[in-house]
Amino acid sequence: MKKLLLPLGLLLGAAGALTAQKFDGLAETPPMGWNSWNTFEVDIHEDMIREMADILVESGMKDAGYNYIVVDDGWEALERDENGQLVPDPEKFPSGMKALADYVHSKGLKFGIHNCAGNLTCNGFPGGRGHEYEDARLYASWGVDYLKYDWCEHGTADAHETYSTMRDALYAAGRPVVFSLCEWGDSEPWKWAEDVGHLWRTTGDITDCYDCQGEYDMGWKFVLGLQVGLSSYAGPGHWNDPDMLEVGNPGLSLTDSKAHFSLWCMLAAPLMAGNDLREMTPEILQILTNKEAIAVDQDPLGKQGYLFMQHPSKQIWVKELSDGDWAICIFNDGDEPYTQRFNWAHYTFLDEDAIYTVRDLWQHEDIGRTDRKYEIRIAPHDVLMFRLSKAG
Ligand code: GAL
Repeated sequence: MKKLLLPLGLLLGAAGALTAQKFDGLAETPPMGWNSWNTFEVDIHEDMIREMADILVESGMKDAGYNYIVVDDGWEALERDENGQLVPDPEKFPSGMKALADYVHSKGLKFGIHNCAGNLTCNGFPGGRGHEYEDARLYASWGVDYLKYDWCEHGTADAHETYSTMRDALYAAGRPVVFSLCEWGDSEPWKWAEDVGHLWRTTGDITDCYDCQGEYDMGWKFVLGLQVGLSSYAGPGHWNDPDMLEVGNPGLSLTDSKAHFSLWCMLAAPLMAGNDLREMTPEILQILTNKEAIAVDQDPLGKQGYLFMQHPSKQIWVKELSDGDWAICIFNDGDEPYTQRFNWAHYTFLDEDAIYTVRDLWQHEDIGRTDRKYEIRIAPHDVLMFRLSKAG
């Protein structure tokens, strides 16, 4: 039999092409789950993580779509072992990460973990730089389904190149993993990360205040302002990530939490709860599990909402949905109550030949139609959130 001889370069090129890709078919809608960072930072323990998994299921959050439990920074021991492998902190995670992942999986949830594309994580634990392939194999052996990959201690490394290496390593390890780039938007990842990861952070860290601004972190209203102009970069399998939710955390009022959640849904943002689920009030649970708001976030069309209009003391965000529907969120970002007068002719993106029914996604009722005018008062920091559907 005649052997088919291919040039070596072609063969190597083909092998490279096989691994130079992210896992397709994941995060077709923005990922949802719970992450340890916003409340616990590095003060984490396997018992607490198990409890969070239990509550995610028992509270109804899993049924509402929250299915990832992500352990953020602080899970590792300070050194790799003698074989260069990452090791979990033996006091915080005495049973090991595989056992924890097994537990999370036994609850019908998925398991996520954090590490860093630099030499060290932001809290001084071993980073992944130069260890990408062995780390990816280790994560696969533990059953990791989601990797949040940070950007501390990266030196002069190029973000696109560094994150692409980890993408290839994850793909080569063979276990489908949602790859979450946490590069803080420094090198505008929305312009290059569609083929690298499933989501990418667009800003520095969120913290639990309305509009504060620190050196490294900021309140959600400030983060919101930085999302303007990014909507065209998001879509199924590749999302802008304006950071995790602060809903229910001490620095936000109930109104702030409701508005923050509504606007993150408008942004088609990944919905990663970051509150202590053990302390969650029924009102906060109601916000986090508002299925009509979540349906806006998770809409299969996968369009991120955009800022349609900004006036002193109000912002109007709109989001195209499947079946010709639209979501509209009017946010009173001033400090006084505001009365919104609705003249639907101003909403020029709507089909001018159609009449829509207007459904209030917080009252859970139809409140009118677009052939009528009305006024609604909005309290400071509060939102109105509507779904418009063509009337039959
Ligand atoms: C930051 C990241 C946070 C958290 C923290 C852990 O860079 O933005 O979300 O992961 O690192 O040290």
